[in-house]
Amino acid sequence: MYDFDGLSAAGVRRGAGALKWTNVAEDVIPLWVADMDFPCLPELREALEKRAAHPFYGYTRHNPSSNEAIAQWYRRYGAGIEPEETLIGPGTVLSLGMGVREFSAAGDGVLVMTPVYTPFYEIIRGNGRIVVELPLHPDKEAAFAFDAAEIEACLSGAAADGIRVSVAILCSPHNPGGRVWSGKELAAFFEIAARHNLMILADEIHMDFAFQKEFVSAASFDEYRDRIIVVSGANKTFNLGGLHISHFVIRDGVLRARIERVLRRETHHESDCFAELAVETVYRRGAPWLAELKARVRANLEKTARFLGAEIDGVHAPVPQGTYLLWADMKGLIGRKGCKGDADLVRRIEAEAKVKLTAGSLYGAGGAGFVRINAASPAPLLDEALGRIRDWARA
Ligand SMILES: Cc1ncc(COP(=O)(O)O)c(C=O)c1O
Repeated sequence: MYDFDGLSAAGVRRGAGALKWTNVAEDVIPLWVADMDFPCLPELREALEKRAAHPFYGYTRHNPSSNEAIAQWYRRYGAGIEPEETLIGPGTVLSLGMGVREFSAAGDGVLVMTPVYTPFYEIIRGNGRIVVELPLHPDKEAAFAFDAAEIEACLSGAAADGIRVSVAILCSPHNPGGRVWSGKELAAFFEIAARHNLMILADEIHMDFAFQKEFVSAASFDEYRDRIIVVSGANKTFNLGGLHISHFVIRDGVLRARIERVLRRETHHESDCFAELAVETVYRRGAPWLAELKARVRANLEKTARFLGAEIDGVHAPVPQGTYLLWADMKGLIGRKGCKGDADLVRRIEAEAKVKLTAGSLYGAGGAGFVRINAASPAPLLDEALGRIRDWARA
């Protein structure tokens, strides 16, 4: 049994450089950035302390055994990945940027399903490409869905505007909203992408948090191996955001060679002396910890959804299929409290209720009226934050 509640995140993380805690006032509980307030896998801490005690931090050779650990982890999801099909990357967002630059030209369109993780917009626009939006819509199952006709319409719309769409960034599971895409949905998406000659960058960083159904990796679609680049990392699952490491899974040798060239061109060649060791440690030794963590995250998500629905008028927060992030429709509350929109609601909750959340419209137009809530916090902290939001909403 691991202890997820014993450590006071407020006491330990504030002032220790944690982005989540140092960007907020002393009395605010942060439930914003996708970073967990649970202490890490104890074996990870031991491994890093041991490495830190060895007082040489010089250039470090890449250790191929980390590729084995990554491949082995991916096999949990039925994708028979070989170690040589994986490459170490410098972070998921940086790796997606490399993919966008490599597989599209300036002025090309890059397809994203919106609302979506904000840095996707920055990667696309910051590299001189055009964001082509496929707006997601609710269906019977969840807040976000797409259908084939909509993708076709979106691509023909871009073509009519003279935009050549060459890349799609898939977020799987999807952030925000936590949608876990089924094998059938992914197959439909890849079939259309292939017909339109799109390269697919599949961001699978939230893959280990799939609750209501199985996560299916894009890497398991052999027939599209020549156009799929999976970008992922241990970062969300084991809370390694501060170590800046990720990996690619690329089954096609030609594509992999292209990304290897990009990595040689755009990054430093050597490894980080802590980050690769961390990935290998969590993937080789972290499965029992993850099983307990997932049970805890799931309980937190269910509790938060139940609490918000039962205690606060004008909030609808379904339990997400994946991720540790709830996507709450707060339009009713926004109206009731006389807020100007989700950004104003979030600003007031931070200033008056002392809880920091994320405004839905940061994820794109379809996010207006929504708020993202990070439920990966120890129970006392999460309960206190929820109580504060309720008291404020009722006042
Ligand atoms: C979909 C998605 N991709 C990437 C990242 C960040 O990954 P990294 O820190 O490895 O760049 C996040 C973090 O929240 C995310 O939600």
